[in-house]
Amino acid sequence: MSIIRVHDKEFDLYIPQDQIERAIKKVADNINRDMAGKNPPLFLVVLNGAFMFAAELFKSLELECEVSFVKLSSYSGTQSTNVVRELIGLDQPVAGRNIVLVEDIVDSGLTLNYTIDKLKKLEAKSVTIATMLFKPKAFRYNYEVEYVGIEIPNDFIIGYGLDYNEHARNLPDIYKVIP
Ligand code: IMP
Ligand code: MG
Repeated sequence: MSIIRVHDKEFDLYIPQDQIERAIKKVADNINRDMAGKNPPLFLVVLNGAFMFAAELFKSLELECEVSFVKLSSYSGTQSTNVVRELIGLDQPVAGRNIVLVEDIVDSGLTLNYTIDKLKKLEAKSVTIATMLFKPKAFRYNYEVEYVGIEIPNDFIIGYGLDYNEHARNLPDIYKVIP
């Protein structure tokens, strides 16, 4: 048994670190294969949740590239709020550049939809998505999610960067809420 408590809820071990890191390596291999020899992309890491995924991913990327960070928030507690708040914005030019958005998890897809629209308005040449986790049954948009580490059902999870009301981001394994 590996049950933990965070705030008022209990969570059970769901995806161990070695499995997460194998999935991240696969994402890195695919990006290396697809982007080799192209204009150095700009990776935009969506904070807070993607910090741990990003750190692991970049260790295996063999491309010349630029890395920067934006901070967005759409979640409160265990629910998506339908409103994206931009807490730290873009600080570099994106016009004409190939952008790769780096996310912890794509759930409804709202956060990235907002960001993709914004980057397109700023005339990015291309916008590609790399996410550690994807909940296809929750996804409400039809843009492509090109690079996915692991697909999961619609359960609320924490760890490896993901939080429950800002706690548990530091856990090296992923845990699933016990309903
Ligand atoms: P979306 O805008 O609905 O796709 O939600 C994306 C954001 O919500 C992610 O970047 C996460 O920060 C957060 N999120 C979505 N699902 C979960 C979850 O199961 N646990 C913790 N955070 C989540
Ligand atoms: Mg996130």
